[in-house]
Amino acid sequence: MTNSTKTRVLTGITTTGTPHLGNYVGAIRPAINASLDPNVQSYYFMADLHALIKSQDPVRIQQSRLEIAATWLALGLDPTNAVFYRQSDVPETTELMWLLSCVCDKGRMNRAHAYKAAVADNQAENSDDDKGVTMGLFSYPVLMAADMLLFNANKVPVGRDQIQHIEMARDMATRFNYLFKGEFFTLPEAVIDETTDVLVGLDGRKMSKSYNNTIPLFSTEKELLKLVRKITTNSLEPGEPKDPDNCSLFQIYKAFAQPDEVAAMRLKYQEGIGWGAAKTEVFEYLNQILSAPRERYVALMQDPAAIEKILIQGAARARDEASPFMARLRQAVGLGHFA
Ligand code: TRP
Repeated sequence: MTNSTKTRVLTGITTTGTPHLGNYVGAIRPAINASLDPNVQSYYFMADLHALIKSQDPVRIQQSRLEIAATWLALGLDPTNAVFYRQSDVPETTELMWLLSCVCDKGRMNRAHAYKAAVADNQAENSDDDKGVTMGLFSYPVLMAADMLLFNANKVPVGRDQIQHIEMARDMATRFNYLFKGEFFTLPEAVIDETTDVLVGLDGRKMSKSYNNTIPLFSTEKELLKLVRKITTNSLEPGEPKDPDNCSLFQIYKAFAQPDEVAAMRLKYQEGIGWGAAKTEVFEYLNQILSAPRERYVALMQDPAAIEKILIQGAARARDEASPFMARLRQAVGLGHFA
C-alpha cells in the first residue's frame, strides 16, 4: 500500500507537563499501537506552539518537550514508521494557520469552549470579557486546524474536550475548498476511544495533573511503590471479600493486565486479599511492565542529541509533504509565482 492511500492518523501532544499513567493508557498506548498497523500512516507531534499559549516558562516548555519525546520513544514508538516531529519545526503550520484565519469567521471562534470559559470567568468577577485572553488562546482552534489539514489527516484520536476543535477544522476546510474551488483538504474525523479514555488516579477521580493525583510514568521504583501505596482503598480487613468494581487499585491494574490476570485478581478480591498484599502485587506488576521502558527513558534523557536528531529527521519527512502542499495552497489563493 502506498503512503497516499493509507489512512492518516494524526495527533498532537501539548508539551506542558510530565507524562503519567493516565496519558499512557488514554493516548500514548493506543497511538503507538495504531502506528503498527500497516494500513495506517501516523503523524504524532509535540504541539509546542500550543504550549506557548498556556505557559510563558521557557524552562518548563523545553523540559516538557524533551520528556515527552523521550517518553514516546522509550515506550516503543518507531520514528521510522510514524512521522514524529515538533510542530515548531514545521513552519508551514503557521503559514497555513494564516490562510485559514482569513476564511474563518470570528463569530464561530467566539463559541470555542476554551475561549467561552475564559469569558465566563471574567464575567463572574465583573471584569472585561477579554481580560487575560491572548490572540493565541483565541486562535487556538485555527492553529489546531492547520496541524490537521496540513497533512490531510483522516482520523484524529483525541479526548472529548477536543471534538469541537475538529468540527471547527472541518468547517474551515469546507469553506476553503468551496472558496478556492478544489478538493484541497480532507475533512478530519475525531476518534474517541470509549474503552481506554479515562484512567482513575490515586484518589479515585480521573488521573489528571490538575487533581494532583497522578502516577508519573517513569517514577523511580521507590517512588512508584510509594504512590501505589497511596492509592485510596477502604477499611476492609484481610479476609473480608472486596468489591473490585469500585476500587481504584483494581481499575489501575485492569488497565495494564491481561484478561486472565484480571480474572485471577478479581477472584483474589472475592477471597479477601488484604490491601497491603494487593498493593504489592499491583506495584510489582506495573514495575515489571515499566522497568524496561524506564531504562530506555533514562538513557534517552541523558542523550538529548540523539532525540534532537530523530525529531529533525521527523520534521524533514513532515516538510517533504507540507512544503509542496503549501505551494499548491499559495497558488490557490493567488500567492503563486509569476513565472
Ligand atoms: N489541543 C490538543 C490537546 O490539548 C493538542 C493538539 C494540538 C492536537 N494540535 C492537535 C490534537 C491536532 C489533535 C490534532 O489535547
